[in-house]
Order: sequence, then structure tokens, then C-alpha cells
Amino acid sequence: PSKSDNQLILMHEFAADMYHHILLNTEEGQAALDYLENRGFTREMIERYRIGWSLPEWNYMATALQRKGYSEEELMNSGLAIQREQGNGFFDRFRGRVMFPIMNESGKVIAFSGRILENTKTEAKYMNSPESPIFQKSQVLYNVHQARSAIRKNRKIILFEGFMDVIAAGKAGVDNALATMGTSLTPQHIRAMKRFAQEIVICFDGDDAGWEAAKRAAIALNEDKFKVEVAVLPGKMDPDDYVREHGQDAFREQVIGKPHAFIAFAMMHARRHKNFQYENDLLQYVQEVLQLLAGRSSPIERDLYIKQLANETKLSEEAILQQYRKLENRSIEQSRPERVAKTVKREPKRIT
Ligand code: GTP
Ligand code: MN
Ligand code: MN
Ligand code: MN
Ligand code: MN
Repeated sequence: PSKSDNQLILMHEFAADMYHHILLNTEEGQAALDYLENRGFTREMIERYRIGWSLPEWNYMATALQRKGYSEEELMNSGLAIQREQGNGFFDRFRGRVMFPIMNESGKVIAFSGRILENTKTEAKYMNSPESPIFQKSQVLYNVHQARSAIRKNRKIILFEGFMDVIAAGKAGVDNALATMGTSLTPQHIRAMKRFAQEIVICFDGDDAGWEAAKRAAIALNEDKFKVEVAVLPGKMDPDDYVREHGQDAFREQVIGKPHAFIAFAMMHARRHKNFQYENDLLQYVQEVLQLLAGRSSPIERDLYIKQLANETKLSEEAILQQYRKLENRSIEQSRPERVAKTVKREPKRIT
């Protein structure tokens, strides 16, 4: 890291300590402390993740940093202060938010995410630091510095959608937990994780957005040769909701301990919102699953999932297998480069 990177890190470390102090030791921090307590945060968790509170004032952090000797330019570069559009001066980016520091692999604070106490329609629930020389959202994973040794020990990463879920998982004793900073998974994230493990369990929110994101992440990770499993949550719950409702043991044993294989998850995903009493839904389901199986599965997996498919749809295994062979031949043809242009033209339009 360059000298100016170090400077930025020092500013973030200072800010993190100050937010943390305000939360724990001042009258002004009490409402936020109550909020966290209501959400099941213990004192130990607040300390472990260095959680804090930013005062709802325009210039509190900026003034504190200036008193420490940082210049206006450094304030802007850090993202902790924002230039006023009119007139001179600047104001704090984070005001009246519960502050979650984001640390780099060495455990140094490089950014923040701040949560409002009460969800409103007008204000963003979370506000993140902007991109900076020390913070790139497409690369940073929440909790890497604390999870690394547990990941190596378990040879496995548990990937969540939000950092609140990482914290809930930590409470339940699941320490090999990471999350992106609210962005979808990038090739840089995947490369970073590949250095730690070859196996991954995706555990995203149970709402539609979570299922779609989990499918995309599963495909990308599978393509990058991760052994991918997916842990699913009942209803629209997220992992944090689940821990609060069903407890830490249930989360560890029933959710994280019982993940679905990649293909089994993709089948569940394809089945979602389908009704097999409708012929179209049923045919589309079979087609989706066979396409998934074609080319990528072992004979044993193929046998297993074709049996399951026959069971679910009440179609005969022979018919499904015949259909599968057709698809497989097509996918072999497609993989021959000289045939690609021709086959693509013949490809019938798919309904998605
Ligand atoms: P809680 O509602 O506090 O339990 O948070 P959550 O972790 O359940 O958040 P949610 O599932 O809505 O979103 C997952 C992740 O997306 C969060 O951890 C954030 O990183 C990101 N995110 C969600 N809402 C916002 C937002 O309003 N702004 C930004 N920048 N990111 C968001
Ligand atoms: Mn979500
Ligand atoms: Mn949400
Ligand atoms: Mn969530
Ligand atoms: Mn949540």
C-alpha cells in the first residue's frame, strides 16, 4: 500500500474507533444500542465487528478529522466527508446511522456501511462508502480477515447476501462466513475466494431476489470449478431472520448442515412458481433440467436426477432419457467450433 493508502486507512481506523466509542459510551448512542440489542446483538458481537454509531450532526466526523490534522482534500478522498454543492465546506457522509466497518484482509478498516435505525421509503436502508483507492466493491468481501482461518480449517466458504447474515452466522458458530458488499458476485470476488477454498455453500435470502442471485452465483462459481452447494431458507426469510426465529442450533444443523448439491438446487429453482398441472410448466421444467444435466453431469448424477425428474413429473424414465439423449447430442455438436454457426441458427426459440 502507498503512503496515501496508509493515510486513508488511518482515517478510517480513527473514525471506526470514534463511532464505536459513541455507540458504547455516550448518551447519544443509546437508541442505536437499543436497536442492536433488539436485533439480538450482544456486547461481544458489537466489539468483535467494531460496530458504531454516527451522530446525526452535519460536521461531527469532519471536524474531528480536521482537528487530527487531516486536510480538506484528504477528507474528500476518504469519502467520510462530502463537498457541499453550493458554497464552501463539506458535511459528513454518515449521519445517524449504525456503522459497520468493512475491513481489508489485514483487518484494517477501509470503508463503512451505515444502517438507518428505522426503514423509511425516502432514505436508503444502507449507505456505503464510495469507491476509493482502498475500497473496491467488486473485490472486497466482508469478514475475510476473521473468516480466513476457519475457511482453511473447514476447507469451505459459506457465502451470504448481506453482512448482517455473516454476523448472525458468526453468532451461531459459523465462522467461515463471507458476503459481498451488496453487489453481485464478480470474477474478482471468485478469484479472491479461490485462494482460500475449493468448496462453497451459498446461503442467500429466501425471497425471489435471493433465489435469482443464488442461481447466478451458483452458475458462476460452478464454472470456476468450485464445488457448489446451496443452503435454502424457508419462506422469504434471510439467515439473520432464521437464526432469530429458530435459533442457532437449527441454523447450523438444518440450514448450513443440509445444503443441496448444485443440480438439486437448480432443479428446485426451476420448479419454483411452476404448476405441473399445466402442461407448459411441466414441459419447460423437464427441458430446463435436462439442459442443465446435458454435458456437465456424471453418469451417476444423470441417473439420479432423471429418476427424480420421472418421479416429480410422472413421466417415464425412458421418455426422459430419450429427450436427454437428443439434448446431449445437440450439446456435443455445439461444442464443435466449426458447427457452432449452423447449430445456433437451428436452435428453436426458448421460452424463459
Ligand atoms: P437488514 O434489513 O438490516 O436485516 O439487512 P439485510 O442484510 O437483510 O439486507 P438485504 O437483504 O436487504 O440486502 C443485502 C445486502 O444488500 C446488504 O447487506 C447491503 O450490502 C445491500 N443493501 C441492501 N439495501 C441497501 C441499500 O439501501 N443501499 C445499499 N448501498 N446497499 C444495500
Ligand atoms: Mn435480500
Ligand atoms: Mn431486503
Ligand atoms: Mn436480507
Ligand atoms: Mn436481514
